Amino acid sequence: MKFIVNGGKKLEGEIEVRGSKNAATKMMVASLLTDEECILENFPQIGDTEITRELCESIGSEIKSEGHTLSIRTPKITSFRVTELSRRNRIPILALGPILAREGKAEVPILGGDKIGPRPVDIHLESLRALGAKIEANGNYYYAEAPNGLRGAKIHLRYPSVGATENTILSAVLAKGQTLIENSAVEPEVIELILMLQKMGAIIETGSDRKIFIEGVSRLNGVSHDILPDRNEAASFACLALAHPKNKIKVRNARQKDMITFLNSVRRIGGEYRVENDGITFIGANGLSANNIETDTHPGFMTDWQQPFVILLTQAKGTSIIHETVYEDRFGYIEDLNLMGANIKVFSKCLGELPCRFNGNGEPHSAVISGPTPLSGRNFKVRDLRAGMAHLIATLIADGESIIDGIEEIDRGYEDIDGRLKSLGANIERK
Ligand code: EPU
Repeated sequence: MKFIVNGGKKLEGEIEVRGSKNAATKMMVASLLTDEECILENFPQIGDTEITRELCESIGSEIKSEGHTLSIRTPKITSFRVTELSRRNRIPILALGPILAREGKAEVPILGGDKIGPRPVDIHLESLRALGAKIEANGNYYYAEAPNGLRGAKIHLRYPSVGATENTILSAVLAKGQTLIENSAVEPEVIELILMLQKMGAIIETGSDRKIFIEGVSRLNGVSHDILPDRNEAASFACLALAHPKNKIKVRNARQKDMITFLNSVRRIGGEYRVENDGITFIGANGLSANNIETDTHPGFMTDWQQPFVILLTQAKGTSIIHETVYEDRFGYIEDLNLMGANIKVFSKCLGELPCRFNGNGEPHSAVISGPTPLSGRNFKVRDLRAGMAHLIATLIADGESIIDGIEEIDRGYEDIDGRLKSLGANIERK
């Protein structure tokens, strides 16, 4: 499928942020820990939640959805194997713990790297092994066993990986005894997963200094939980508003507390915003100025904000530098932006001060942006979800027509994106 976009139109009005993709999918997996019904409110209807639905249904979940409410109940795990799914996302590895807890064995597909880097799961596996799981790679699958159940352990994560932290939490809540996770990820989506699990009967404490303490319980109950608003969607819409002086967009449900670093960066480049009770209004203006950004784990500048922010920096006066320290290959979309008129050069050196795992390994993870540069319409294929959204923003502020192919990738994370953009005045058609 394609989007045909005629850019340069004034975008004005309100757009509502949906529930977070990266929380909703994990909460569906958390529901596998109980045989009772779990109700998820503010549930986003996106490709990634459909893929996760297929996963859950393939192992016994009964799922009903109405509007933005999802009911999921897994009375019995009917298969310990997560079979070949018709589409892929990175969620199956997180199902290892819940299936192990209920069945004593589990099998999930091995996922390779994708367009933003090799994305290993070595830290996930180290943690599960520390909790007593025996895991072996079996062809295209990881097969895990814990016939006598998992046991609590002290685990120090080598890197505060979001997925590895979530996997460890999901595995430890029903393990025997206590677990201490050190150097854990503390992203808002991780904290929200903890809140849901606490309501389900888990005992979890978050300490200072990236520590999470879990006391295993013998069973968990059903829950009703509201999914937090998606801060990646919010940042995308914010950048769309700020990138063109004619635009003014209220991003309804955007939460200041989840976007502190983003909002500081907006202010540093001269962007205007107003925090209101029910959202944040972003106001496009002339005269944005360049600045430097280093992506990092929370509470740093999020890697998923990098791509839409780069579009903003192409419209800012001066030279901006971005140092991407979370993924080694997240600048592939720059080539297309340069063909639209941007002036961005990518370097493998660390152009920043944060400690970076990619130092000296030749990966193109720093970018220098010279602006402002007008952008003009162009045809291209979506590379990955966030890059696809960044391209969409670029085409909306560019002059002329663009055709964006492969938009299923954008649909994985953004519900009815064309419908919502049209309501702001965008000229966008889905073909
Ligand atoms: N990493 C390892 N080993 C591991 C796990 C991670 O080396 O065992 C590395 C990764 O290769 C990457 C870095 O650590 O370089 C960060 O990975 P992390 O595990 O923190 O990320 P994730 O759990 O795979 C989630 C989101 C991403 C988001 C990151 C960072 C989901 C489904 N995905 O990924 O979102 O960028 O956290 O905040 O929650 C997206 O939504 O488009 C997206 C990519």
